[in-house]
Amino acid sequence: MSEPMIQTQDLTKIYGDLTAVDHLNLTVDEGEIFGFLGPNGSGKTTTLLLLLGLSTPASGTAIVGGYDVVKNSREVRKIAGSLPEFAGYYENLTAKQYLDYIGQLNDLPLTERERRTTDLLADVGLTKCGDRKVETFSRGMKQRLGIAQALIKDPKIVFLDEPTIGLDPEGIKEIRDLIFRLNKDRGLTVFLSSHLLHEVQVTCSRVGIIRQGKLVATDTIENFTKELAGKEEKSIEFKLINVTPKLLKELKGIGGVTSVTQENDRLYVHMAEDNTEEVSKTITKNGATILLMKPREYTLEEVFMKYYQEA
Ligand SMILES: Nc1ncnc2c1ncn2[C@@H]1O[C@H](COP(=O)(O)OP(=O)(O)OP(=O)(O)O)[C@@H](O)[C@H]1O
Ligand SMILES: [Mg+2]
Repeated sequence: MSEPMIQTQDLTKIYGDLTAVDHLNLTVDEGEIFGFLGPNGSGKTTTLLLLLGLSTPASGTAIVGGYDVVKNSREVRKIAGSLPEFAGYYENLTAKQYLDYIGQLNDLPLTERERRTTDLLADVGLTKCGDRKVETFSRGMKQRLGIAQALIKDPKIVFLDEPTIGLDPEGIKEIRDLIFRLNKDRGLTVFLSSHLLHEVQVTCSRVGIIRQGKLVATDTIENFTKELAGKEEKSIEFKLINVTPKLLKELKGIGGVTSVTQENDRLYVHMAEDNTEEVSKTITKNGATILLMKPREYTLEEVFMKYYQEA
């Protein structure tokens, strides 16, 4: 087993009376797309700054890419790229000039800067806009340029703080596809912070939920969903033709069925114990046709709320 890319031990940050990050124990493996999910003010950005060696912890330790973020913060910044929450750009520069400038800040020689600028503009789909001034870019283009600058040092890991904030659905999808591609092609480890449940659910393989500075749960999306589904009552989603009041009444009377609800063109049958067989028989017997039948899928939102309420 290789070393984890990120390992924190009781990492803690205190601002005055506030413990913004509270004994955080987190492990992220190489090659993961890890989602750091939490509401506004839960400590996501503060954690990212600690992991980038840009902020000093009150106590605890963090190792990133094999380096201690306090003792070896320079090394950490060499191998960790970041897209900050409120990334600022030099709007007057062209995209190429901007990336070249970031390359200079990272002590890259000219030929290397030229090569990486060309490659990165292609990676983020901005080749045609390389000579345009950043001030003419849309927000989505700026975010992609922001990811390109995070990659100029050819990092092992990138920290993306709310990378899709303010983007439209198409822009969000472009960023997501870009993250997938970078992860797959370069084996890049991605640490993505977000307060958007859906974003994390569709982008990340594993998720940590942070609340008031504390990590309240960490697991794969799959396990989070399974865990909840296992605990809750079983529900089946149907799309039916010919739903009659008589059918609804009969369904409600089946043993084990706790309730029957309708939403748009869907019918949901909730059961305390599985009685799928009787439910489908009753539907057919009443002359209704089943166009679709599937177990109701739980969203991460429901899991997330559960952890909020419990904590
Ligand atoms: N420099 C600072 N000085 C004092 N308090 C701070 C500082 N930075 C953050 N905080 C506080 O620490 C807590 C965590 O803030 P942080 O920015 O890490 O949250 P976040 O999860 O990134 O929130 P958001 O989703 O709004 O970006 C908040 O209560 C915030 O007010
Ligand atoms: Mg933040």
